[in-house]
Amino acid sequence: MSSQISLNEYNSFKEFLEQHCGLMLGDNKHYLVSSRLTGLLEEFNVPTVGDLIQKIVGRPEPRLRERVIEAMTTNETFWFRDAFPFDILQSTIFPELESKVGGIKVWSSACSSGQEAYSISMATEEYRTKNPGKMRGDVRIVGTDISAGIVKAAQKGCYDNLAMTRGLSPERKQKFFQQAGECWQVNANIKARASFREMNLLQSYSLLGKFDIVFCRNVLIYFSPENKRDILERIRQTLSPRGFLFLGASESLSNYSDAFEMIRCNPGVLYRLK
Ligand SMILES: C[S@@+](CC[C@H](N)C(=O)[O-])C[C@H]1O[C@@H](n2cnc3c(N)ncnc32)[C@H](O)[C@@H]1O
Repeated sequence: MSSQISLNEYNSFKEFLEQHCGLMLGDNKHYLVSSRLTGLLEEFNVPTVGDLIQKIVGRPEPRLRERVIEAMTTNETFWFRDAFPFDILQSTIFPELESKVGGIKVWSSACSSGQEAYSISMATEEYRTKNPGKMRGDVRIVGTDISAGIVKAAQKGCYDNLAMTRGLSPERKQKFFQQAGECWQVNANIKARASFREMNLLQSYSLLGKFDIVFCRNVLIYFSPENKRDILERIRQTLSPRGFLFLGASESLSNYSDAFEMIRCNPGVLYRLK
């Protein structure tokens, strides 16, 4: 089995990846491509990474396309990532939106294995407990991700011990999860607020409806400036008037959209439709 790839193979794979999921590879990521694709050789019965790339950039069968995208995307995530978005929900956004008839709709737009969506649901549960009777409707969270496998994991809501150590306090673990054999299952009331589906951020959002709050965190960094602008413009269209947007802690809107005002929350930044 060979994992060597030629410059031509690398360049055509790079083009495929940007076209299909927006992910930009630098010029020197041969090693990354080889190491991530080597794991698929046996499954697709091809001898070398070069052969696999030929198959991919031709007309890949859907399963191969799906597995390649899964192999190349970074699914790094954890509970209550950066803390501030979930604190701001509880301190600022829920109090403002709590009397909304029909409840509050949130989109976790690159949800990975569901930690972001379930953290929003846990923050909701805590808010409702501290403010009994104040929220008129409930919070509904839609999680989407390009990767079919990761969406299935999010739907399951079952996490191993390692995942449970990342960002979750012992109190929240005890309050919101049940042990189920080797893993921890998120409680039914937390799970019930969230639904998950496969969706590519480069494709249409028209089936999703409107949201009051969008989380688009730690995914824009992988896209070209044109794709960032396009995604942010289409996120703008999914938001209700004066809707809220959270980006990752190291991401910003500068040069990509002027539709939002920036609110410094200390810690953290929140964006709001003008
Ligand atoms: C680093 S994770 C971020 C997860 C979560 N938002 C967080 O901040 O913890 C990035 C996620 O973006 C997803 N992703 C990458 N390209 C995408 C695309 N074109 N459309 C939708 N999701 C995509 C990946 O599958 C991955 O799960």
